[in-house]
Parts: sequence; C-alpha cells; structure tokens
Amino acid sequence: MIQARGITRTYQTHGSFTGDRTVHALRGVDFTLPDGGAVSFIGESGCGKTTLGKILTGLETFDGGELVVDGVELSKLRPRQREKYFRRIQMIHQDPYSALNPTRTVEATLGDPLRMRAKETGAPVSAWRERAAELLTLVGLEPAAVLPKYPHQLSGGQRQRVVIARALTVDPTVLIADEAVSMIDVSMRLGILSLLRDLRARLGISLVFITHDVATARYVGDGGELHVIYRGEVVERGLTDEVILSPVHPYTQCLLSAVPVMRGLEEPGPDRTAPTAALDERTPTPGCLFQPRCPFAGAQCAETHPVLVPFGADAVGTDAAEANVTGADVTGADVTGADATEESGHVHACFYPESRRVVGVEVGAASA
Ligand SMILES: Nc1ncnc2c1ncn2[C@@H]1O[C@H](COP(=O)(O)OP(=O)(O)OP(=O)(O)O)[C@@H](O)[C@H]1O
Ligand code: SF4
Ligand SMILES: [Mg+2]
Repeated sequence: MIQARGITRTYQTHGSFTGDRTVHALRGVDFTLPDGGAVSFIGESGCGKTTLGKILTGLETFDGGELVVDGVELSKLRPRQREKYFRRIQMIHQDPYSALNPTRTVEATLGDPLRMRAKETGAPVSAWRERAAELLTLVGLEPAAVLPKYPHQLSGGQRQRVVIARALTVDPTVLIADEAVSMIDVSMRLGILSLLRDLRARLGISLVFITHDVATARYVGDGGELHVIYRGEVVERGLTDEVILSPVHPYTQCLLSAVPVMRGLEEPGPDRTAPTAALDERTPTPGCLFQPRCPFAGAQCAETHPVLVPFGADAVGTDAAEANVTGADVTGADVTGADATEESGHVHACFYPESRRVVGVEVGAASA
C-alpha cells in the first residue's frame, strides 16, 4: 500500500525571457493506493502528473509531505533501503522507443534485470531465459519472435509490451503508467490498456494511471479512485465513474466537457461548459486557483482558497463548511483539510459545487 500525504514539489526556474519563477508543480497532494488497487490522475498539460509519478518511483524528490510504502515512511530510510522500496514501484513512460536502448535486443534488455533479480531472490540464474519467455508471453508477445529483435524492429505496441515486461522483471508491486498509450497507434491502445487491467487482476499489481484522457482512465481505473489535478492541486476526487458521470467541481466539468462525443451514438452532456479564460500561471491567485477561468465563480472565490471537503456536506455548521470558510494555505498539508475529508468519498475543493452532466450521453438516453 502507498500512502502519499501532502506531497509538495516546487521548482525555481530561471530564464532570460521569463526571469526567475517559482513553479508549484504539486501542492499538497494526498492519496492512498491499496494493494491491488488503482488510482488515476487526470489534468491538463503541466498540472504535475509526471512529477507525481517520478516522485513515486524515486526519480524525483519532493519538498513537503510524506510517502509511506507498506507502513514505512521512505524519507526515514537509508538511501540503499529506500532504493529497494522504489525498485518495486516501476514506471511505464509514454514513449516506449526512448525507454528502450536501441542497441540492445529484447533478450539483452530482459536478461540483465532478470539475472540480477535471480541473484537477489536466490533463484537459479540460469532460469532467466525461461522467465523472459514467461514474461513476454504474459504481456502478449511471442518470445521466439521478439527475443532477437532490436526496438526499431518492433511496432509501437510491441515496444510498449517489452517495456512492461522489463518492468515486471523486478516483480513490482506497483506500476505507474504515465500516458502509457498516448504515443501508440490508436489501433493498439486498447490492447495495452487491457494488458494493464489484466496485470492488476492476475498479478495483484497496483496501478497508478496518469493521463489526460478520460476514457482511458475510466477503462483502466475501473473500481478505483480518480483524482483531478489543477495546477498541482487535487480539486476533486472520488470513485472513477462517479467523478466522470457526476462531476461537481467546475474544473472537472470543463475538462470533461472537452471530451469529444461519438457522433451518431452520443449527444453532448446537457451541462457542458468551458473555462472563461486561458490558463495564466503568472498572475497571483490568492483564492481558488481556478477562479480566473471559472464559469461559476462567486464572491468568495477570489479571496479564500477552498480545501477538499465531502460533496453534500457543505451545509453551514459542518466541519467541512468550517474548513472552507476558514480557508487554508495554498501549499502544504492544510490544503487537504484532512479531518474534513473522508477516505474514498467524493470530495471537492469548491465553494459552489454542483453535480453536472457533461460527458456524452447515449443518443435517446437524455430525453428518456
Ligand atoms: N525539472 C523541472 N524544472 C523546472 N520545472 C519543472 C521541472 N519538472 C517539471 N516542471 C514544471 O512543473 C510543472 C508540472 O510538470 P509535469 O511534467 O509534472 O506536468 P504534466 O502534468 O505531466 O504535463 P504533461 O501532461 O504535459 O505531461 C510544469 O509547469 C513543468 O514545467
Ligand atoms: S471555488 Fe469558486 S472559482 Fe473555484 S471552482 Fe468553485 S466556483 Fe469556481
Ligand atoms: Mg507528463
């Protein structure tokens, strides 16, 4: 199980045109990934998805919050011990071509980590070929056909399957798929997504699914939680289907409204909406981060920063209402309003939440 609490990552950037800038890549993100479970993150480009994935795999550091894996707080471990934990969390990147060494065959790509893993576990090193064949079969490839091949001799879908097989060589407990199908031919995407779903079911591997594509999040993250990130902050969270079918945060509604409908089969959701302005990260936003673009902004939004509270519990006098009246620091753990949220409930950070139907509705279903 992974528990992330108030993860914050800030970058200081220096550019000759842009000057010095502070980029808040992540602002107090927290989530729980149960063993064998799935958590998806969606949000527009630059909202912090990859940064989060890298932090979870130890490829990036964070400057606030804590990361607990199987009850162990990773920052308290020595580097070597920490490395051991991170090895069980493997990341699948969006570009399978650059993830593979072009000068190495599939056999060599899988051979090294498999031999190393055999030494670690005390298994006979000579059995690595068998294991390589087993893993390739598991990811839907014909071992004899692909083992001698170089990456350029494989299709994009095959390459991504090899990347997944390589991730499996270390017997991971968690896979982090960062836009894992966005660079793959459309015809092969479903196969890779089914594979990820299948690995969860067959091997009990937990999945962190990072995407800007709602349909894939819905397919792979089925039964898990969906987190909607805006400018490094989770603004809505809940069961994947619930958030997609009944989003309550205006940003989620704008994001889902941009999903194209399948002509002839679907009609646009009746409450479709769009941001009122383009994203401008430079102007300070003391209140709600989405306020300058929000189609439903009210009086309170420009001044106070809303924190995550359960949907439906905003009545005056509740803890949740209190949390949003008081507001909280934009960065750090306060944003999550820990005692105002409920594990795996539908929560949002908005003063004026309203359930709206924005995703495509089956033709005829809206009027039925
Ligand atoms: N090493 C870095 N130095 C400075 N800024 C960075 C660095 N890495 C990420 N950022 C900034 O942090 C923010 C989040 O970046 P990130 O790559 O996590 O976004 P993303 O949601 O994955 O975007 P995309 O959908 O385009 O992949 C961006 O504004 C990005 O420019
Ligand atoms: S708090 Fe206000 S500005 Fe922010 S999303 Fe809600 S309505 Fe819009
Ligand atoms: Mg990214």
